[in-house]
Amino acid sequence: MMSFFQTIKKRRSIRSFSSKSVEKSKIQKILKSSCMSPSAKGLQNYKIFVIEDPKKKENLVKAAHDQEYVNSVLVLVFCADPKRIKFMGTRGEKLLAVQDATIAASYAQLAVTALGLSSVWVGHFKEKAVAQILKTKLRPVVILPVGYGNEKPMSKKNQKMKNIIKQI
Ligand SMILES: Cc1cc2nc3c(=O)[nH]c(=O)nc-3n(C[C@H](O)[C@H](O)[C@H](O)COP(=O)(O)O)c2cc1C
Repeated sequence: MMSFFQTIKKRRSIRSFSSKSVEKSKIQKILKSSCMSPSAKGLQNYKIFVIEDPKKKENLVKAAHDQEYVNSVLVLVFCADPKRIKFMGTRGEKLLAVQDATIAASYAQLAVTALGLSSVWVGHFKEKAVAQILKTKLRPVVILPVGYGNEKPMSKKNQKMKNIIKQI
């Protein structure tokens, strides 16, 4: 089993996947990890759509500005569901539910890595088009294509930590 810090280090964006399907038990573990994430008031203000239907995936590629890797064997779409957090006003509706969906996606991405799978966080897409494909009124926040990776991650240069961390 990969340690927590190994998982963080291993997680990289992968944009090419093999056609090997993802085992049902792994899908369950990924979804369970998401549902264990923290959420505003513990209300879990998000919904996770699990998409395996080929036509829907093709349409998601188009809605994501032709990012072909969105057509992986398993596609998860995380949507903000502000119904229950509306009592917190616009902040609840607009921000907290979006944060909940984002955190849930983040937990999923790490679970994906820990299970030997790969993914890429896709945030560049037409919201209305994605909502239409999912037949939902909810706000889509993250598309996460998942599968067995078929490439090495791109080289990456992180900013120096001192540019990011402000000690005050
Ligand atoms: C909010 C957000 C939106 C992103 N949107 C896209 C996207 O639409 N398409 C894509 O290929 N990668 C997308 N990425 C992935 C980033 O490009 C990637 O995480 C970054 O380059 C760092 O590389 P790494 O994930 O391998 O560490 C997104 C990442 C985040 C966090």
